[in-house]
Amino acid sequence: MIYASNFKTNNTRAYTKEYIKTLDKFISKNSIKDEIYVFPTATSLDIFGDISSNITIGAQNAYPVKNGSYTGEIGLEQLDEFDIKTILIGHSERREILKESQELIAQKFDFFKEQGFRIIYCIGETKEIRDENETMEYLWSEFEGIDLGYEKLIVAYEPIWAIGTGVSAKKEDIDEVLSALRVQVKSPLLYGGSVKSSNIKEIASIKECDGVLIGSASWKVESFCEIIKNGQNQ
Ligand code: 13P
Repeated sequence: MIYASNFKTNNTRAYTKEYIKTLDKFISKNSIKDEIYVFPTATSLDIFGDISSNITIGAQNAYPVKNGSYTGEIGLEQLDEFDIKTILIGHSERREILKESQELIAQKFDFFKEQGFRIIYCIGETKEIRDENETMEYLWSEFEGIDLGYEKLIVAYEPIWAIGTGVSAKKEDIDEVLSALRVQVKSPLLYGGSVKSSNIKEIASIKECDGVLIGSASWKVESFCEIIKNGQNQ
């Protein structure tokens, strides 16, 4: 299984350091073999010393340039400084709130693919799209310009209506979407949207689910560790 924590705009650099140390201790002590990803804020990007080889620190976002004049953005040079080689692209909050177009998303994808980054590529439909039974059509449109054959690709399906609500999508709904995606997507498939310690077992048991991308329930390290613990032996 893959367990990925997306901090979004939460946690300080000091807490991130403590978080990664505590997480690392938990992983070693319990001989956890899963792939663990942590996406802290840009100001907390660091590996903070030696960590287990199955923990990877990634960026939530970056601009598709080495460096230059893009006020407020970070580029490859800033990621390289901390040896960051993993990035989230296409998160619904960047699409909806930050108004990232599919064109810019595809541009970011191409740039970071060229640089050999592991890319966690996010897709997800709104409640309206779902109510109109247009989920799959919409999800495929979010792959426009994206190379599904990229070997370092991980796809995260995060229905927008389940993000941050405390209520995840139903097992049958996740199963249906992931199975439909599987026809064309050979990369690992994650589910995201109100994943927590009480529903991880059920979500991890879904046939095509290779892991989870977690927001709110992963912001405290104890809670993230509990999710990882409860997801064992699936
Ligand atoms: P929540 O786990 O808070 O629903 O957030 C999911 C998410 O957006 C992870 O990227």
